[in-house]
Amino acid sequence: MNSSRPFVVSGLTLHEWYQTAKEFASQAEVSPAELEWLLQEVAGIGILDLRLGSVRDRPQIWLSVSLEDLTKLWQQRLDRRMPIQYLTGVAYWRDFSLVVSPAVLIPRPETECLIDIAVATSQDFTDDNQHWADLGTGSGAIALGLATALPTAKIHAVDRSLEALSIARRNAERLGLSDRITFDRGDWWEPLSALKGQFTGMVSNPPYIPSEMLPDLQPEVAWHEPPLALDGGSDGLDCLRHLVNTAADYLRPGGIWLVETMAGQPPAVADLLQQQGQYSHVQISPDLAGIDRFVLALRSVEC
Ligand SMILES: C[S@@+](CC[C@H](N)C(=O)[O-])C[C@H]1O[C@@H](n2cnc3c(N)ncnc32)[C@H](O)[C@@H]1O
Repeated sequence: MNSSRPFVVSGLTLHEWYQTAKEFASQAEVSPAELEWLLQEVAGIGILDLRLGSVRDRPQIWLSVSLEDLTKLWQQRLDRRMPIQYLTGVAYWRDFSLVVSPAVLIPRPETECLIDIAVATSQDFTDDNQHWADLGTGSGAIALGLATALPTAKIHAVDRSLEALSIARRNAERLGLSDRITFDRGDWWEPLSALKGQFTGMVSNPPYIPSEMLPDLQPEVAWHEPPLALDGGSDGLDCLRHLVNTAADYLRPGGIWLVETMAGQPPAVADLLQQQGQYSHVQISPDLAGIDRFVLALRSVEC
């Protein structure tokens, strides 16, 4: 036993539990891989042990929750469509294991691309102590990614949700990055007004789903992820429009403006940037599936 896994069952009992849970998963059209993930988190059992059935031969297996509570967790996944990341409290993103709760969006794999684009675009800036903003930080994923990839930069993470900021702070502490990131509650740039004109980069994955599409999202998202993280207003562009209109005052000349959008939105966002008149080098990039999702621009030097 260890302090994080105080409950014990026999390997045979857990094997039988797994077989039954797998049947329910198949009926509910949930991937058995999610069940294996849950058992990995709760019991520390590897996928191969489960799939090959060797778990049966182990006399004792220690669990972080009782078998009864494990059953309730799996029922929440199947009946209430609760995302597995909220059930386990963990999401894996880039090299990080992040704490998550229903107060924050579960960070998505495609958002990882933002860090690579930011780093590739920042090569022209060689000065130390650069300021970078992660606006709408949620779990803190982007801020943590930037802090790791840009080791001398000062990262400023902002969110309107206090609960989200508390999770983001916790993630920074767990990863030893607290001294690299400030966390502020507020509306987009508003808490950062003292640093106007000084930011080398802004990275944001703002809410961008058109309001009327929200009820049609898959139940895992529509029922459980925070509406504040999803709802982008009537055309989905409310927050993106705000970031286009406000960021030029905060970015230094040549500074980087970089966002994630929904599929189909990049041309409209690129138009907004062109029309605003203070940006240049507008560029659209695809996500891991080849779908255009990211828009990059530089704050014009001559403004
Ligand atoms: C799509 S989530 C992104 C979370 C995280 N950055 C990620 O990529 O996983 C958008 C975030 O923006 C925050 N947000 C919404 N409106 C905001 C506002 N007016 N000012 C600051 N943050 C806001 C939400 O609370 C949410 O955490």
